Amino acid sequence: MSRKIVVTSALPYSNGPIHIGHLVEYLQTDIWVRFQKICGNQCFYFCADDTHGTPIMISARDKNIEPEKLIDQVHKEHKADFDNFFIEFDNYYSTHSPENKQFSQEIYKRLKQAGSIVKKNIEQTYCENCNMFLPDRFVRGICPKCKADDQYGDSCDKCGGTYHPTDLIESHCSVCGNTPSLKKSDHLFFKLADYTPQLKELIASGYTQQSMSNKLKEWFDSGLKDWDISRDGPYFGFEIPGEENKFFYVWLDAPIGYMASVKNYCDNNGLDFEKLWNSDEYELYHFIGKDIMYFHALFFPAMLIGSGYKTADKLFVHGFLTVNGEKMSKSKGTFIKASTYLNHLNPEYLRYYYASKLTGGVEDLDLSVEDFINKTNSNLVGKFANLASRSGPMLKKKLDGKTGALNQAGKKLIEKLASAKEEIIKDYENLNYASAVRLIVSLADDANKYIEENEPWKTVKEDLEKTRTTLTAAINAVKILTIYLKPILPEYAGKVEEFLNVEPLTFDDVEKTLENHTINKFKRLINRVEREQVDAMIEESKQDQAQQPPTKEEKPQLPIEPIAQECTIDDFIKADLRIAKVIEVGPVEGADKLLALKLDIGGIEKNVFAGIAKAYKPEELIGKLVVCVANLKPRKMKFGISEGMILAAGPGGKDIFMLSVDQGATPGQRIK
Ligand code: MSP
Ligand code: ZN
Repeated sequence: MSRKIVVTSALPYSNGPIHIGHLVEYLQTDIWVRFQKICGNQCFYFCADDTHGTPIMISARDKNIEPEKLIDQVHKEHKADFDNFFIEFDNYYSTHSPENKQFSQEIYKRLKQAGSIVKKNIEQTYCENCNMFLPDRFVRGICPKCKADDQYGDSCDKCGGTYHPTDLIESHCSVCGNTPSLKKSDHLFFKLADYTPQLKELIASGYTQQSMSNKLKEWFDSGLKDWDISRDGPYFGFEIPGEENKFFYVWLDAPIGYMASVKNYCDNNGLDFEKLWNSDEYELYHFIGKDIMYFHALFFPAMLIGSGYKTADKLFVHGFLTVNGEKMSKSKGTFIKASTYLNHLNPEYLRYYYASKLTGGVEDLDLSVEDFINKTNSNLVGKFANLASRSGPMLKKKLDGKTGALNQAGKKLIEKLASAKEEIIKDYENLNYASAVRLIVSLADDANKYIEENEPWKTVKEDLEKTRTTLTAAINAVKILTIYLKPILPEYAGKVEEFLNVEPLTFDDVEKTLENHTINKFKRLINRVEREQVDAMIEESKQDQAQQPPTKEEKPQLPIEPIAQECTIDDFIKADLRIAKVIEVGPVEGADKLLALKLDIGGIEKNVFAGIAKAYKPEELIGKLVVCVANLKPRKMKFGISEGMILAAGPGGKDIFMLSVDQGATPGQRIK
């Protein structure tokens, strides 16, 4: 029996273009949806633009246009990028829609009725000049920790420290430059903690990958916090019913946008929203990146539970894209927009490359330019397309384009290829595309080997029927491999279907052989990728970034870093703490936070690396008595072996405080 499935991907922000990082998600999802469809399942794929919030409001203001106009433009650009990458949504909608407003207000009212909303008076940074409260990202100033210039109100890009916007030195409004003040106002909070038992149960039922469940457990252990869901106007979003000049925070209406997209589609296509979204008849899956797990594993399900909707069957979380082993970088030209990519390269290269690396896990995925070129040329072009181009044209030109019957060896090959079907289906279903691709590549190797052994380019001169038999096997191999690759390579598959002269292929066609079948004229399926094309794309990305100021997406910091696993007093007193005298101190080449210390612990010398270089000068340490963990297992570091640890703590940078005991102690003395 065929399944009925509803699938969503996270809604991209309207304040920036689609880039190749986003595409990890949309390609992962699209491949899965196409796979379901090719299996004969009913599968709908929904998405939308995430249009609300301060950054979009400000950026529209900068451009001197209404936010509505800005989000319309961006919607068109996003949609075009997705189309060009063959990402096929059943509906690509917008969170700025009547359906979304309706759902957001209704869900809010139900939550309020359930007693899950509380009002609290809070103090926030406010710009008197702009007449608005400033999100942390819109307050800028000098980092209170490392004194780096021009940092955001919540965290420092230089030292990684986090703090409150009020801690910034010389803070100013990033819109107008004015010094912000503090102002109180009422905010509405969603009492997330009320839903702890249901959320725990949901996660325990396998809602998301195991590694994510562990992260969630840490969050549960430190206790769920009330969630601020309101923002004071001016704000681009939906007004909160029953309140004066208050709007839903963008993250409240964003996930509800999934529902709006489904609803809009149902209304336009005579389908029942309640059935698609809220009944057991349809399975429901969300695809997201690991950065927005908190919202999708906690806030959104709690909101749904509190307002009487079902929660999804599963949340599929993926990792982040790195390029050549590093975060995408504007200056290195590896922050590549979808549209820039398309100016230079075939979208199916990227579809194939990501598929070859996606495992269904939450690890980051690396796009190595070298590997990308290599895989494209040696597998996609060299193995798959090559198999078709050495059989199709010859059959057409020399043998009237007609396949014959398979002989014993041909049957054996085709059966081997066909018998991999169940395993490939399993891999796709489990999002382990990497494993599917590995298997398909090895099958292509078998097929190419078969051709090489039978040498049709030789036999075609002496024995036409033998050649036909060989090519019949090759053509059938092309057909099966194309079915297997079709979720990944839809356009390529379309071209193969055309030249094979067959109806759109599905997994059901794997066992049907093409014997005594006439094919069409062969057209080139795919080109090799040239290094110059990739270089040109990177160059264009560099140029492009030079023209635009960086945009930061609105992503709130999570409450606090989770408390680590419990440690007993017995664990703790295992540390043998000794007075140690600092006898030598020097800098560490290549590590500007570290100092290399030589310690005397009552006749025993130990070399220790300590991350205190920003807080202490070498000369002020010489001769000091410090406290050392003397029995710490020596640890090999990049710079040498560290044989202990001195006690020092603090938030970082200059604020690190070393325990020093200057009087009445002797090196080697044990202390408690
Ligand atoms: N608007 C929110 C999502 C709201 S969903 C109700 C958002 N938007 S986003 O544009 O920043 O990201 C959209 C999706 O793309 C997210 O799932 C995010 O994890 C993913 N990615 C964005 N950058 C990415 C990489 N560099 N690598 C992989 N995925 C990335 O978050
Ligand atoms: Zn201002």
